[in-house]
Amino acid sequence: MSYTNLFRKKSVVQIKRDAELGFSDAHGLATDGEPHLRKTLGVLDLTSLGIAAIVGAGIFAMIGNAAHSGGPAVIFLFMFTAMACGFSALCYAEFASKIPVAGSAYTYAYASFGELVAWIIGWDLLMEYAIGNIAVAISWSDYFTGLLSGYGINVPAYLTMDFLSASRGYDTINGLIVQGSNLEAVNAMPDVTNGMKEAYAAWTTAPRVGGIPFICDLPALGIVFAVTALVYVGIRESKRASNVMVALKLAVIFLVIVLGSFYINPANWSPFAPNGASGVLKGVAAVFFAFIGFDALSTTAEECKNPTRDLPRAMIYSLIICTTLYIILTLVLTGMVSYTQLQVGDPLAFVFGPEGANLPWMSGIVAVSAVVAIATVLLVFQLGQPRIWMAMSRDGLLPPIFSSIHPRFKTPWFSTIITGLVVAIPSLFMNLTEVTDLSSIGTLFAFCLVCGGVLLGAHTRGLETGENERTFVPYINSRYIVPAIFFIAWGALFYFNAEGVRAFFSFTDPSDPTLGAWEVFRHKIPLYAYIVLSFVMVYFCFRRRLSLIPVLGLMSCSYLMTELGITNWTRFGLWLIVGLVLYFMYGYGHSKLSHPATTGAPQ
Ligand code: ALA
Repeated sequence: MSYTNLFRKKSVVQIKRDAELGFSDAHGLATDGEPHLRKTLGVLDLTSLGIAAIVGAGIFAMIGNAAHSGGPAVIFLFMFTAMACGFSALCYAEFASKIPVAGSAYTYAYASFGELVAWIIGWDLLMEYAIGNIAVAISWSDYFTGLLSGYGINVPAYLTMDFLSASRGYDTINGLIVQGSNLEAVNAMPDVTNGMKEAYAAWTTAPRVGGIPFICDLPALGIVFAVTALVYVGIRESKRASNVMVALKLAVIFLVIVLGSFYINPANWSPFAPNGASGVLKGVAAVFFAFIGFDALSTTAEECKNPTRDLPRAMIYSLIICTTLYIILTLVLTGMVSYTQLQVGDPLAFVFGPEGANLPWMSGIVAVSAVVAIATVLLVFQLGQPRIWMAMSRDGLLPPIFSSIHPRFKTPWFSTIITGLVVAIPSLFMNLTEVTDLSSIGTLFAFCLVCGGVLLGAHTRGLETGENERTFVPYINSRYIVPAIFFIAWGALFYFNAEGVRAFFSFTDPSDPTLGAWEVFRHKIPLYAYIVLSFVMVYFCFRRRLSLIPVLGLMSCSYLMTELGITNWTRFGLWLIVGLVLYFMYGYGHSKLSHPATTGAPQ
């Protein structure tokens, strides 16, 4: 094995030529004339698809917990995250305009960093799309079963949740019962939420298999199968479905904002940041999850009528629209009820319930539209994942069947089916928080690499001067701006939160004195690593006058990653190791760059 092979790169010209040839036969040979993807998407369809992917479980469900821990000040987290996503979107737009082929960050990494990193990012994108979709399917199921019970149809609790949630809920309630209470009294306690009660019911009523309760989330499985079938049948059908659903969810969000603003009580905005910065930062995974999706557009590049022009625009338009809606919506929600009440899975419906505006018809409309809104996210992600596998298979890193296109439906049929299974089966059993965290860390990593790619200028390597001249990342010299931001940020931290800075360098935890020094240190590793990275970036910005936008994208996304905790970092690391093992077992030897004769690519 040659070390340099691991970093062999595909030039932009070569990537485009490969995509035009469309390696679609089962043997992986160049097969010009074989079925290709259908080019049907325009800028409006793409913007709509972007909104379809962005507005979903994050804003309809997860924002409840984020607002509960951060209070109204969670809007600052929305602003910061929107900024981080905005810088990344510009970098994605830059790549998408120069390399308009399916494969997204995976393809961009192949041009920027070489094959090994491209594989890593392709593997990592599974976390964004497939693992992200598990989270979305679970949230969809929550809203759906809530809606059914509103109509008096009650699905048994043990068929609507995951094992971990049921066991935690059971432990909590059982603990209170053991302390001398009875179930009725426990159910009346204010701290015992509806979720806990359902979890207890699920655990105690579930059928036992070998003594272990059989608990699973059946509606989550059902929706993934339904969406997979739609995606299998075709991009045109998916586009139509998504356009209608997006119009509906935008209309409902407008209605929530307009109607809700009449019920705002400004007293609810005080205190604005009840738990300080640490409370706000607890919402990072949920808030970031709410923004994921604009990047998924780049996986449809080969189905766009004019990808160079339309893709970048659609990404930026959809991000601007969603950011504006999110910030206003957060202010409305936290103004309508106290943040302390928002720890619910259906916050948008909740604020129109008896604790809020008390408009039951409006709660019903929101619940129905949430079911639709969340389904559109599933749709776009189920579209995205197979197209990334298709691109990897064209390059030989996955078996040829992954890029096989269905002769009638013109979709990557095999990848679509495998995606359906990879999402549907775990969604039966996995826990929402765990999958949300994993999906967020994986996506942030992809964003960092895309920003890094633009920083290295990879998106123009091999292009003729003047080709696709439009640039989405104008060069702004970072030489003085980045060091200035760095010193101002540290200065502000020392001035406003000297205590926090001191705690950062201490190896004891006042809130839990039983924790040893290593345990305390371990949790701070991502932040320490970030500080080292910041120093390095400041140095290079000063010396090499790097381009400002990708630097800020890289720095802001990597900062958000540090807030996701060492446990997620460890899981993420393990995930990447499994991916590396697969690469060396299959991809390295089968890469088309090892066998250029089969690609038709220039050598
Ligand atoms: N942004 C998407 C959602 O919130 C993933 O569901």
